[in-house]
Amino acid sequence: MNVPASRRVLTGITTSGTPHLGNYVGSIRASVRASRQPGVQSFYFLADYHALIKCQEPARVQRSTLEIAASWLAAGLDPEHVTFYRQSDIPEIPELTWLLTCVTGKGLLNRAHAYKAMLDKNQAAGAEPDDGVTAGLYMYPVLMGADILMFSAHQVPVGRDQIQHIEMARDMAASFNHLYGEHLVPPAALIDDNVALLPGLDGRKMSKSYDNTIALFGPREQLRKQIMSIVTDSRAPGEPKDTEGSAVYAIYRAFADDAEAAAFAQAFKGGIGWADAKQQLFERIEREIGPMRARYEHLMAHPEEVEAILQAGARKARALATPFMQTLRHAVGLRALTAQPDRAQGDKATARAALPSFKQYREADGRFYFKLTDAHGAVLLQSQGFESPREAGQAVKRLQSEGATALPALAPRLQATPDPAAPALQQALQQLLAASQA
Ligand code: TRP
Repeated sequence: MNVPASRRVLTGITTSGTPHLGNYVGSIRASVRASRQPGVQSFYFLADYHALIKCQEPARVQRSTLEIAASWLAAGLDPEHVTFYRQSDIPEIPELTWLLTCVTGKGLLNRAHAYKAMLDKNQAAGAEPDDGVTAGLYMYPVLMGADILMFSAHQVPVGRDQIQHIEMARDMAASFNHLYGEHLVPPAALIDDNVALLPGLDGRKMSKSYDNTIALFGPREQLRKQIMSIVTDSRAPGEPKDTEGSAVYAIYRAFADDAEAAAFAQAFKGGIGWADAKQQLFERIEREIGPMRARYEHLMAHPEEVEAILQAGARKARALATPFMQTLRHAVGLRALTAQPDRAQGDKATARAALPSFKQYREADGRFYFKLTDAHGAVLLQSQGFESPREAGQAVKRLQSEGATALPALAPRLQATPDPAAPALQQALQQLLAASQA
C-alpha cells in the first residue's frame, strides 16, 4: 500500500461556474483554513474533466477554471504548502479511471443519486429512461473515485450530496484491492456540520440553479447592489424584526463572530430598518472579502501567473501519480513482458489463475447443498438444501452457464439474497462463464 506520512485531505471543485458567496462560506473558506493545519497534507484541484459532463461551452470551462483558481488563491490558499492542480493536467487520473471502471459493477453506478434523478425525471416526462444521459454522467462516480484514490486521500471534505460518491470510491478501492492486493486507500467523507448553508437573494439555498447567487468577487458596487436586493418582509423601520428566517441575518451570521452576531440580532429586535441592516451586512462582508478582491482582480488580469502556479502544482501531483500509476499498472498485469510477478508487493495474479469453484456437499440434515468460493476459499454464495444432488447440480449448471443473470431466478434457493451487483460475486461468475466458453 502507498502509505502517506501524514493525513491526506483532498477535494475538488467542478469548473462550470463562477464562485459565489455560498461556495466561499461552504467550501473555499473552510478548505483554506484546513490547509493551514499542521500534520495535514492537502490536495485541492479544479475538476475540469467533471465540468465537461455538464458544461459543453469551451470558453466557459476555461473561464470558470481561471475564476475558481483565482478565487482559491485570493482566499489565501498557499500553493507552496498544498498541492493545487488542475485535474486534466494529470493524465494518470483518466488512466486510473479505466482500471476502476473494470472493477466497478454496473449495478453500483445504476444506484448513483444523480443518475437515478435523471431516470426519475425522464419517467415523469414520459421519455426514454436514459434520455439525455451521457456515458460521462453515468461514469461520474468512477472519475471521482480515481481523483481520490490516485492520491491515497484519507479524508474528503464534501457536501452531504456527495457522500454516496465517497462510499462508491470505497467500494472501488475494496474491489481493486481484493483482486490485486492492498494498493488503494479507502477514503472517508468529511462533513463539516458547522459550515453554514447560505440562503440566496430569494431566501432559498444559494445556488446557481436557482439564479439567486451573490458573486464572491464581483466589483464592490455589484456586491452592494446584490445585497440590497435580498428579499425581506415588509416591516418598516422601527418595527422589531425576526432573525429567524431572515436571509440578511443568516448571511451576516456566516461572516460574523458571536459578539457581532449578537449585536446584529439586538439591532433586529430594536427595529433596525432593512436598508440599514443590509448596509451593515455589506460592510461586514466587504471587510473580509475586500482585501482579497485586489488579488483576485490581479490574477484574473494575469492568467499566465495562474497557469504557472497550476503547472507547478501538476508537477508536484504527478511526482506522486506517475510512480503510483506505474505500481498499479504492474499490479493489474499491464507490464513489460519480461517483468516478474512480485509476490512481496501483493501480486495476486498467480493466485488468481485458480478459478473460483462450486462445491457440492451433503449436510447432516440429509439435504444437498452447494456453495461458491473464490480462489482463496472465501464463500461468495451459499445455497439452501435441495432434495436431491441432481437438483443442486442443475442450479450450479445454471450459474455456470448463465452467470449473474441466473441469480434472480435462483434467489429463493439461496441462503441470503445475493446482491447481483456485488463486485466479487460478479467477478467470480464472470470468470467461470469465460472459462466455460474458452
Ligand atoms: N463532485 C464534486 C462536486 O461537484 C467535485 C469533485 C470531483 C470532487 N472530484 C472530486 C470532490 C473528488 C471531492 C473529491 O462538488
